[in-house]
Amino acid sequence: MTPEMFFNEDCIEGCEQHIQEGSVDLIITDPPYGIRGDTLHKHYNRKEEFVIDGYIEVPVEKYAVFTFDWIREAERILRPGGTLYVVSGYTNLIHILNGLARTSLEEVNHLIWKYNFGVFTKKKYVSSHYHILYYTKPGGEVTFNTFSRFGNDDKTEDNRSRNYQDREDVWAINKEYKPGQAKNKNELPKKLLIKLIQYSSNEGDLVFDLFLGSFSTAKVALGMNRRAGGFELSRSAYSHQVEEVKKIEPGSLLNELNNPEIKPIPNQGKVWTEEERTRLGERYREIRALGLTKKRTIELLCEEFGRGRFAVAKVIETFKAIESEDLVKGK
Ligand SMILES: C[S@@+](CC[C@H](N)C(=O)[O-])C[C@H]1O[C@@H](n2cnc3c(N)ncnc32)[C@H](O)[C@@H]1O
Repeated sequence: MTPEMFFNEDCIEGCEQHIQEGSVDLIITDPPYGIRGDTLHKHYNRKEEFVIDGYIEVPVEKYAVFTFDWIREAERILRPGGTLYVVSGYTNLIHILNGLARTSLEEVNHLIWKYNFGVFTKKKYVSSHYHILYYTKPGGEVTFNTFSRFGNDDKTEDNRSRNYQDREDVWAINKEYKPGQAKNKNELPKKLLIKLIQYSSNEGDLVFDLFLGSFSTAKVALGMNRRAGGFELSRSAYSHQVEEVKKIEPGSLLNELNNPEIKPIPNQGKVWTEEERTRLGERYREIRALGLTKKRTIELLCEEFGRGRFAVAKVIETFKAIESEDLVKGK
């Protein structure tokens, strides 16, 4: 680990001063909310003695400029192809989206994270989601490890693809309840951080957070054998957490992670020959004639032809279209 990568400084000036352009692979960050008279802690039923004093807020009137300034620094320090995830509530989302739109960063997904312990309300809906904005910097290879969590054959109990389900853009992940432990007011859950880090980085990559709070991003990144760094302006939060982060053993989380079996698809990406297409049509009819379902038939054909499910299904659809056209023409 490199403890010199953690700074008790303002992230905008700090980035300019200490962080080289293009040196960071992945940024996961959760900026201050910019909510006047923050009473967030009062809504949660928890003991304030364990919430670390020193969360620093940004005045509402400065939020737009502040947001653009830190996003511009994030853009600068990311390597070409590097990834940025910004966690935001809806109150100041517009400023974050505006800030991102003024950079070269490209939007990939707008994720919704649904959490538990939403703030209780009686006369309106209970707010229980955050936005996670997923952007990449153009000009380089983007890391997205599609099969890092679930293989192409992993199924849910109701026989759906786990891999597909895990990559849908609404995530229900509970906030962590940590009775009797010092924490930041809004600590990101370990499960959420693991997921982002698995998909968007590799071991040895530098994972950065401009607003460290309780250093949750850094702690998980180190536990997953990535390098970590970032900024936290609050002296009390920084001095407590910089000691805590030293206790993390690099790679200690890796054993907890699912290690999916990835079956290679030998002919993936290869152009279909006419003979192969004709043979696929014949085999499809033969197998269906035995009484097997369409789904099972496609599974068998995937193995037989060394192709993925979507590719096989697509070719079969073209056959069906030709057949129904022939029927209309009376062939
Ligand atoms: C929403 S919290 C981050 C929580 C963090 N993701 C976690 O899991 O604990 C935002 C943090 O940014 C810090 N902060 C506010 N202004 C800052 C600045 N200009 N530079 C660096 N940190 C700042 C706050 O003190 C607060 O700890």
